[in-house]
Amino acid sequence: MNRCVIGLQWGDEGKGKVVDILAQDSDIVVRYNGGANAGHTVVIGNEKFALHLLPSGAVRPQTICVITNAVVIDPETLLGEIDSLAKKGITLDNRLFISENAHLVLEYHKKEDQLREEALGRRKIGTTVRGIGPCNSDKMGRSFAVRMGDLRDMSSFEKKLATIVDYKNKLFNSVYEARYPAIDLAIILEKCQNYAKRLLPFTIDTTEYVHDAIAKGKSVLFEGAQGSMLDIDHGTFPFVTSANVSGLGMPAGSGVPAKMVGEFLGVSKAYTTRVGAGPFPSELDNQIGQYIRDKGHEYGTTTGRPRRCGWFDAVVVSYAAAIGGIDSVAMMHLDTLTGLDELKVCIGYEIDGKQTSFFPANIDRLEKAKCIYQTLPGWKEDITQITDFSQLPPNAQNYVNFIEKSIKRPVTMVGVGPNRLQTILKQ
Ligand code: GDP
Ligand code: IMO
Ligand code: MG
Repeated sequence: MNRCVIGLQWGDEGKGKVVDILAQDSDIVVRYNGGANAGHTVVIGNEKFALHLLPSGAVRPQTICVITNAVVIDPETLLGEIDSLAKKGITLDNRLFISENAHLVLEYHKKEDQLREEALGRRKIGTTVRGIGPCNSDKMGRSFAVRMGDLRDMSSFEKKLATIVDYKNKLFNSVYEARYPAIDLAIILEKCQNYAKRLLPFTIDTTEYVHDAIAKGKSVLFEGAQGSMLDIDHGTFPFVTSANVSGLGMPAGSGVPAKMVGEFLGVSKAYTTRVGAGPFPSELDNQIGQYIRDKGHEYGTTTGRPRRCGWFDAVVVSYAAAIGGIDSVAMMHLDTLTGLDELKVCIGYEIDGKQTSFFPANIDRLEKAKCIYQTLPGWKEDITQITDFSQLPPNAQNYVNFIEKSIKRPVTMVGVGPNRLQTILKQ
């Protein structure tokens, strides 16, 4: 069966860990969206892997890894990941396939990301500065975009790049008043020659490859990046990333229709986190939030920024599950809540005196939303070694069961620690 893993909050839900577990029963893991803004962690024994562009299946030596069209690829980061896995004895040779139609994130995109954020002043999005917005803008604008397959013909690539570099330098100097030659064509071209040499051997038509594999009965696991609330059309715009990162983005990103996927598994934390700016109704800007941050090591995998922490928001997760066609939910970090006397779950919002349980993706209404909470008792026992749901303290079981009812989806996996083994299969 083909499956798809989707983040149900604002990212960093634990998708890397869930994909690693499911990859055990999959032939192929496909990354189909986002870019190096993602940071997916897999912990095996004492070893920790943080993957940004490679599918999380990369850590399993037998797993085929595919990066499809809608992933915006920073070749520098991708090569860094391939090399760092190689140092650990894990090679991607003959099992990594990259789409010829994936767009390239080059250094001027990262520069533009930084300049745009600076220009916004207090209205900053709080991006990862990995060039994601500018690269996707160039992609949608079409005129100044470069793709993996363009590296095959270096002489026409050079002409294309010269036009782009000229345009970007004019843009940086005039609009952003960055008065220096921001990009040197010769340097960037030399780097691209190296990318071509090293990455073209992996580059194919991934749509054909994945369809062919499915026709032959291979099982494919689609690995979503980011979280549904960061979806460009359905998230908390403008404080989102620049792509469809809810379940809705999977078909467009991979070239495989949703009906060929047997199960959409959503991932959430047992509470909520968010990095970057934007509304967060259940945020705990207090000691409890700090307790969760410390205990859950809530610092960004990509940027190291402290994550904002808050109570579980069933309005958010129900909405993400609805738009993403989510069948079941993996709930990570239950262990992080251990020790709190009581826990709250947001079960609805009050906006202008009216109650709603449907998430308002319009920011003006969302900013006015006040959470309606249900309070539940906490637990004190260490749960990090528990492998059976029925062995969890009754209050922990009660908490998971309450959330299951609130989001109207079965919770099939519960995380009790970062290690791949610290996962309870509930059903
Ligand atoms: P992703 O972007 O969704 O893959 O998530 P990240 O890797 O950015 O962040 C999740 C963090 O939580 C990582 O540091 C994981 O190792 C860690 N993690 C995942 N599941 C659990 C869990 O059940 N308990 C604890 N304590 N940590 C977990
Ligand atoms: P994973 O896959 C958490 C957030 C950034 C910022 C906003 C826009 O690890 O869950 P961007 O650089 O994409 O233009 O930033 O989106 N963001 C993420 N937050 N996890 C991620 O990925 C994220 N990818 C982007 O913090 O608020
Ligand atoms: Mg992450």
